[in-house]
Amino acid sequence: MKRIFCSGSSFLALVLVLLISGGTGPGVAEAAGETTVPAVPVPESNPLTPEKIQLGKRLFMDRNLSDPDAGRTRVACVSCHSPMFGFSDGRVRSTGVYNRLGKRNSPTVFNAAFQHSQFWDGRAQFLTDPLTGDMLPGTSLEAQALGPIQDPLEMNNTPENVVSYVLYRYEDALLQAFPEIEQYIGTPYEVPVVFQAVGKAIASYERTLLAFDSPYDAFAAGDTGALSDAQVRGLALFEGKGNCTACHPAPLFTDVTYADAPEGGFHNIGVFRQGYETGTNDATGEPLFPNPGMPEYEGYDLGRYYVTGSTADIGKFKTPTLRQLLCTYPYMHNGKYGSIRDAVEFVVRGTVTGFDDPYEGDFVGTVSPVITEIRSKTWTDAEIDDLAAFLESLSGGRMCGGHGMGM
Ligand code: HEC
Ligand code: HEC
Repeated sequence: MKRIFCSGSSFLALVLVLLISGGTGPGVAEAAGETTVPAVPVPESNPLTPEKIQLGKRLFMDRNLSDPDAGRTRVACVSCHSPMFGFSDGRVRSTGVYNRLGKRNSPTVFNAAFQHSQFWDGRAQFLTDPLTGDMLPGTSLEAQALGPIQDPLEMNNTPENVVSYVLYRYEDALLQAFPEIEQYIGTPYEVPVVFQAVGKAIASYERTLLAFDSPYDAFAAGDTGALSDAQVRGLALFEGKGNCTACHPAPLFTDVTYADAPEGGFHNIGVFRQGYETGTNDATGEPLFPNPGMPEYEGYDLGRYYVTGSTADIGKFKTPTLRQLLCTYPYMHNGKYGSIRDAVEFVVRGTVTGFDDPYEGDFVGTVSPVITEIRSKTWTDAEIDDLAAFLESLSGGRMCGGHGMGM
């Protein structure tokens, strides 16, 4: 896959964020002078413009993109990716239209622009050009945005409905952002072309949701007072004994980046199942994870396996970023742990003291040898406290509210 790193675009994104938020100053722009903000990857097929970002922001907030019959239970992207929760939702599992419970925990959208694939299993990778059938590289965000709109457990809508609403409600803004699509309106290409434009606008907005202004960033830029003693000790454990950087390297603290595309960034760390996986799908009444033909795995979330079909990938999930964790609780693909400390203790010990877990040991697949190695060491409570303290230093900006939203 071709990579497009355009340093000019990252600067553009920062400036645009400032403009859009009325100059109230999302921390990222303030931090830009002190710390190295990596360039936001922008695909050739969707150059970043202020018109697209502005339209995408409106679409991100618009509940009318969801099932028109769902009444007061209609949801927008922002319902599950709210700035109040670091663009996540504070729930174990998200709630979609008709209060249907989703399958997994909502990840943050902060810095998702840097990931080569989206979702816990990485199933959103790119758009296909509706006119030529060509794969459009670097469009994982565009492809992702069209998923929840149609997911029965999330927004439960159809491309046809969305396109007719968007043409009715946003036609001027849409044609300003995408003048090249006007020729397809009223043709058989109308629905696929306009629907992709919706994804492109939302992705453009998401490329402005950056988080690089934490105490850690100030420390990395030379402000030695920015971290507490415990946090400095935690950083040393993170990079040294803990080997966390093997999968959570700075500055993104995830390895689902273009440098590792397309397969890198998925690991099995043996997260015990939550129990709900044995429940039913609120939209269909079927089991949530039926796994047909694999009776030994009935009811388990097999993660990356669903994308690759390789049994070696059973139980692998995307490495989540560790930025903004103070706002994005609970943690792991199934929202298993409510506190950063419990999540850290689980990573290094494989169990959590005092956490009554009926599903202990109940996970699928083979745990990564890197994790097994970490767990083979002895970890004191004080070390776990220090690691957790360090992870807190990766949260910053206008914490858990309004960051970059002009709110
Ligand atoms: C009902 C709640 C809900 C709604 C509505 C929703 N999402 Fe999500 N979102 C989730 C959940 C849950 C996941 C993880 C699902 C998975 O991995 O299978 C997710 C994943 C994502 C990801 C991938 C992040 C990552 O690190 O992998 C992005 C980006 C995202 N959503 C953006 C959006 C956009 C844009 C919209 C609106 C078009 C939207 N979401 C609507 C709950 C929701
Ligand atoms: C082999 C790769 C790997 C290593 C090494 C690793 N992690 Fe992770 N980490 C992951 C993956 C994958 C997940 C998500 C697992 C899931 O949900 O099933 C994760 C999840 C987490 C989470 C939860 C974040 C969230 O938003 O849900 C925290 C906290 C975390 N890791 C901290 C650490 C710390 C601290 C270390 C070092 C002691 C570490 N990790 C080492 C791969 C790794």
